[in-house]
Amino acid sequence: MRYLSYILALAALAVSPLMAEDKIELPPFHHIVGVKPSDAIKVPNKFKLGDKGELICATCHGLKDIDKTPIDEVDKEAADFLVGGHYRNLTGLCYQCHDEQKTQRENIHILLDEHGEIKKKQCTYCHEEVPDRDKKLSIAELKLRLPME
Ligand code: HEC
Ligand code: HEC
Ligand code: HEC
Repeated sequence: MRYLSYILALAALAVSPLMAEDKIELPPFHHIVGVKPSDAIKVPNKFKLGDKGELICATCHGLKDIDKTPIDEVDKEAADFLVGGHYRNLTGLCYQCHDEQKTQRENIHILLDEHGEIKKKQCTYCHEEVPDRDKKLSIAELKLRLPME
């Protein structure tokens, strides 16, 4: 709930010059709007930005007046609901602007580096300390962060 109000507050702040009259409510966990892309973001030409170079509804949505349409009446099946059409995976849209490499979450189950050495940092996602692999350890000694199940 706190996160939601944070987002709404952010959105309200960000879009207020854009739509002084119609106070819109973005869906929970919706993408931020009203910000100018930093250097980390590359926005392809097909995504139109606002007059000040900021993210507006039409940057990502092709639907006319989406900002004046009640959320439950927005046609998410429409071909131009998202600019560029239907994406097989939604991340296909995200990576148009966000760097795919830099936004990957590390796979914590990959425990060996390119030289076949163990990546000790990975162990501590699940163990409080890196277990000694040469000893026979009891479950308690493994110091798992969460119960086994
Ligand atoms: C950076 C891209 C981006 C911008 C800018 C953007 N949206 Fe969205 N919007 C999305 C994505 C992605 C979804 C989620 C699609 C999904 O989950 O299938 C979405 C979903 C929605 C939905 C449907 C929510 C639902 O769950 O039914 C509405 C309504 C919406 N946006 C309105 C807006 C409005 C109004 C603005 C401008 C104030 C805006 N969006 C700006 C990317 C954006
Ligand atoms: C049109 C370009 C564009 C698209 C498409 C886009 N983003 Fe963004 N996104 C931005 C910009 C601009 C920012 C602001 C941060 C910056 O400029 O570095 C941002 C910020 C974010 C943030 C940080 C928000 C915060 O509160 O700090 C997240 C998380 C994010 N985007 C996720 C996504 C996801 C997930 C998708 C796909 C569903 C997506 N973005 C699609 C342009 C885009
Ligand atoms: C994704 C979670 C996770 C990660 C990451 C992880 N472990 Fe474990 N580890 C476990 C669990 C769960 C067990 C208990 C397995 C069991 O008893 O069947 C375990 C057991 C062990 C054991 C005891 C094995 C045995 O047969 O008695 C050792 C030693 C160990 N881990 C070392 C490591 C080391 C070293 C790393 C990092 C390279 C690591 N673990 C990373 C979850 C993890």
